[in-house]
Amino acid sequence: MKTVSIIGIGRVGGALALALDGKNYKIENLVARTTENAEKVYESLISKPKISSLESLNEINSDIVFITTQDSEISGIAKILSAKVSENSIIFHTSGALSSEILKNLTENAVGSLHPLVSISNSFLGKERFMDAFFCIEGDEKAVETAEKIVVDLNGRSFSIESKYKTLYHAAAVTACGHLVATIDAAIEMMEKCGLEQAKAQKILLPLIKSTVENLETQNTAEALTGTFARADAETFEKHRASIRENLTDEIMEIYLLLGMRSLKLAERQNADRERVEKMRKKILLAKSELKC
Ligand SMILES: NC(=O)c1ccc[n+]([C@@H]2O[C@H](COP(=O)([O-])OP(=O)(O)OC[C@H]3O[C@@H](n4cnc5c(N)ncnc54)[C@H](OP(=O)(O)O)[C@@H]3O)[C@@H](O)[C@H]2O)c1
Repeated sequence: MKTVSIIGIGRVGGALALALDGKNYKIENLVARTTENAEKVYESLISKPKISSLESLNEINSDIVFITTQDSEISGIAKILSAKVSENSIIFHTSGALSSEILKNLTENAVGSLHPLVSISNSFLGKERFMDAFFCIEGDEKAVETAEKIVVDLNGRSFSIESKYKTLYHAAAVTACGHLVATIDAAIEMMEKCGLEQAKAQKILLPLIKSTVENLETQNTAEALTGTFARADAETFEKHRASIRENLTDEIMEIYLLLGMRSLKLAERQNADRERVEKMRKKILLAKSELKC
């Protein structure tokens, strides 16, 4: 049985405590600044850990220490920890954007990052989200080995990247998740111009979005691309462009054109007619050059 201390009992910290508790792990410390969520989590734990502030703890000897505070707090916590933590403790943070480099002042310890690639909106729902989730792991060899075992115990799936690419990995996740939502929001704005209410427009688009995502379960991005750009249909593109120019902003036009350029790359991978693709690319570049911004 591994002992665990968790620093920062917010959404992720609480979810980790609930998910690991009683498996192969004993939760020893819930280290909290404000204790409301920690107390709620504590009620559901078999381990019955100590709830305390970092300042009030003289030493931390757990096998595993998670820092699950906001990203901006991690380096400050690492500094305080260096004077309190046993050199045998393996220390992780769960940030997506930061690598384990931020823990390097803990020179005696194995350090790593373990990022669950899921959205955790509260600790109790979050506990369920770890199953089948992918976790990005990087750090010292010993930390990576330990993290792989933790992910298996959470019924998740892990993959590793080099520390230097951690922020790029996070940008990829934002592009696939947040930017997808932003793209859908642009489409909703276009639908609103057609006279539909926002909520109705979202509802109408949802089956289309779902079917596209489902296609990606079995097809690569080139195979899954359909529509005007997959066909390199320059005539329809010109009509879209005229209609966007007449009804919407340059911002929407820019999004449409930028993603259109990317779609053309996919069309090429689908072996679309080269001449048609080239003709369309020139039209997009011309349209981009005419944008004010
Ligand atoms: N939520 C997600 O979907 C998700 C998914 C993957 C990874 N992550 C990563 O996981 C980490 C935590 O995210 P989160 O969403 O769980 O954040 P959160 O809900 O804001 O929780 C952070 C917790 O840390 C506490 N804290 C801050 N400084 C502290 C200190 N000095 N001592 C003790 N506790 C302290 C905060 O206390 P206060 O309440 O007093 O501020 C808060 O309870 C971040 O690195 C984030 O990037 C989040």
